[in-house]
Amino acid sequence: MATLFILNGPNLNALGKREPGIYGGQTLADIETLCRAEAEGLGFSVDFRQSNHEGVLVDWLHEAGDTAAGVAINPGAYGHTSIALHDAIRAIHVPVVELHLSNIHAREEFRHRSMIAPAVKGVICGFGAQSYLLAIRALRGLIG
Ligand code: DQA
Repeated sequence: MATLFILNGPNLNALGKREPGIYGGQTLADIETLCRAEAEGLGFSVDFRQSNHEGVLVDWLHEAGDTAAGVAINPGAYGHTSIALHDAIRAIHVPVVELHLSNIHAREEFRHRSMIAPAVKGVICGFGAQSYLLAIRALRGLIG
């Protein structure tokens, strides 16, 4: 069974207690459960990971390029700052979808820019935990 990597960046381990008015009340473990059900229904297994460290996310993207069928990534704040993540995505040859729980365009101006958006296949934001499931469906379509 082909595997999707679902990667999560900094502070997403705090979901559930972190600004629930913006990010919702579900924990990252809750979201992982939803992702597994969605992906398995579409014929994928899931490797679901979170790190607060930029270089670890770079390493995981490289690993995904060797072993995964596609990647959904919520880069957290690194999405707004990280040329290293941009470059890592451009260095691999599997489809990558960027996602955010919140609508980053409806928030502070510093969140409007994504450094990784030019390197990914597409961006999904603003649908809460549903953003993850939409990203998985998008990958299903891209992988064919
Ligand atoms: C986020 C949006 C980012 O701006 C923020 O830094 C996060 C979470 C989201 O999922 O809405 O950590 O990626």
